[in-house]
Amino acid sequence: VAGNEAMSGKLYGLGVGPGDPELLTLKAWRILSTVPVVAYLAADGKPSTAREIVKPFLQPEAQELQIVVPMRPEREPAQKAYDEGATAIRAHLDQGRDVALLCEGDPFFYGSFSFLHARLGADYETIVVPGVTSLSGASAAIGQPLTVRDQILKVLPATLDTKRLREELRQAGSIAIIKAGRHFGKVRTILSDLDLLTRATVIVHATREDERILAARDVEGDTLPYFSTILLRTPETVP
Ligand SMILES: C[S@@+](CC[C@H](N)C(=O)[O-])C[C@H]1O[C@@H](n2cnc3c(N)ncnc32)[C@H](O)[C@@H]1O
Repeated sequence: VAGNEAMSGKLYGLGVGPGDPELLTLKAWRILSTVPVVAYLAADGKPSTAREIVKPFLQPEAQELQIVVPMRPEREPAQKAYDEGATAIRAHLDQGRDVALLCEGDPFFYGSFSFLHARLGADYETIVVPGVTSLSGASAAIGQPLTVRDQILKVLPATLDTKRLREELRQAGSIAIIKAGRHFGKVRTILSDLDLLTRATVIVHATREDERILAARDVEGDTLPYFSTILLRTPETVP
């Protein structure tokens, strides 16, 4: 462990849930209410979704640290932003100030928190507060179980290439497709080819006030908002 851990602040990875502020855990709320520094990632400098979620609970005296992450297909610009963000967080931790890094949904479920954790976790005491994931939010939104009994739930990032996505979807059970956003055209073609399109439901902004539920076959155009999840249920009924 580098530095004097007794003097260093703690790093919190704070899961804030998929959108409804009431889905914040009591633990996340307690930490948010007392922590001196609140950090969050802002994609391309747009307002942070995680910050929007916890806005009602932000303490005016908390210092905010925005880490701007450029969203490009190449990895380097984001890596550089994570490096710089880690350095900025480090400065607070070294001064003994605790930092809560806000994470939409759950920090360790496809969360960018992992990139900061990789840079800081070995050097500072780190506490991860789990959050309600987008999958839980999406299945609650459509009022259907995500998976039951011995069904297998598969989570597929739509960023996978066409061949891999097709292979994974071919053995379809219960499936959640995340990150569909600008990949929706590709996903729709595969689902249609595999005769799965009619089983797919799109949940946009699950648990938020502007939540929308659409049959995938009714979606017009080749893109979806970034915060969209596609759920495919097995035809099996639950007795
Ligand atoms: C980088 S992942 C982050 C997942 C997040 N950490 C979680 O626990 O759900 C982002 C993807 O999660 C899904 N997602 C996150 N929040 C969502 C929401 N409120 N409604 C629908 N999908 C959501 C979308 O597929 C989005 O592209």
